[in-house]
Amino acid sequence: MEETMPTKRLKRSKEETTNAQPWVEKYRPSTLNELVAHKEIIGVIKRLIAEDRLPHMLLYGPPGTGKTSTITAAAKDMYGKNYGAMTLELNASDDRGIDVVRNQIKEFAATRRLWASSGTKLVILDEADMMTNDAQFALRRVIEKYTANTRFCLVCNYANKIIPALQSRCTKFRFAPLAPDQIRARLGEIVRAENITMDERAIDALLGDLGRGDMRRVLNILQATSVAYPDRISYDSLFLVTGNPLPSDVDAIYVSLLNDSFATARATVADLAKTRGYALPDLLTRLADKVLTTQFPPHFKAHLLEKLADLEYRASFATSDNLQLSALVAAFVGARGLQSD
Ligand SMILES: Nc1ncnc2c1ncn2[C@@H]1O[C@H](COP(=O)(O)OP(=O)(O)OP(=O)(O)O)[C@@H](O)[C@H]1O
Ligand SMILES: [Mg+2]
Repeated sequence: MEETMPTKRLKRSKEETTNAQPWVEKYRPSTLNELVAHKEIIGVIKRLIAEDRLPHMLLYGPPGTGKTSTITAAAKDMYGKNYGAMTLELNASDDRGIDVVRNQIKEFAATRRLWASSGTKLVILDEADMMTNDAQFALRRVIEKYTANTRFCLVCNYANKIIPALQSRCTKFRFAPLAPDQIRARLGEIVRAENITMDERAIDALLGDLGRGDMRRVLNILQATSVAYPDRISYDSLFLVTGNPLPSDVDAIYVSLLNDSFATARATVADLAKTRGYALPDLLTRLADKVLTTQFPPHFKAHLLEKLADLEYRASFATSDNLQLSALVAAFVGARGLQSD
């Protein structure tokens, strides 16, 4: 295994290591071996490359799980210095119309390679779920027409937004959210490479509650927090920089909502929300998690969750936050009446 010399592997060329660069790009894996997680998928792709049998592919799954990184790293492994000439990367969200796609693909697939007589080219269609249905239907033909010397790789979040006819032309690989332990080692390397001081508790929060299986989010939070707190990243600072409610604040709010009078609970929630700058939807998500995991009579739980869902819906219309905060307290105080029935 290539587990040795991890920090070496993270060294990048000079222009890539400028401070201005987002860490998600600075630490984007450039070879398949650098990717953490999805070992089976990567193993299969490596074998297909080695046997020169790469099929059309559909990579799908939630954000920040390494789909784009996997296919670009595969292409770099496959083509080496010819990467630029052999790969066409199209972002379907920019060019939604099929004409653009068709023309670019046609031009790319038709150009002769001067240095090699054989070799299959690769077209990467990122964010393919943003393509219109018409464009997807047209793509069927395009894929068929150029199959002789071109492979297509569709990348998206939602496989069900890709028409079945395209899905059936592709080998599908699902990228699951990354488990905290899969990200841990790589995060450790990056923390060392950037000279960050950070304790275990902060790392656990970043990998768990805050990152939620999305490596891009993990790196963005880390970078933002390290700008605000260059000396040491603490557990609290991670939450405060990202505006995520601190678990201790959520606990305080929760206890107050369940026990205090309307006026006291209203004051507690409003105070914390205001001084910390919490957004109501973030609080609602955390409170809903709490309600779900607390032992309550089923009807009480059901009533509260329904109220919280209504509140979240209303909050998305940017109505008055003050009124919605009151409604949050009312939901709890009102539900308490049910409990004593
Ligand atoms: N499996 C992984 N191994 C190592 N780094 C990863 C992995 N997944 C994500 N990353 C990191 O997160 C960043 C974003 O990953 P990537 O662009 O591949 O995500 P994606 O799955 O294509 O997400 P989206 O669906 O939002 O496009 C990468 O630059 C890399 O730094
Ligand atoms: Mg992507």
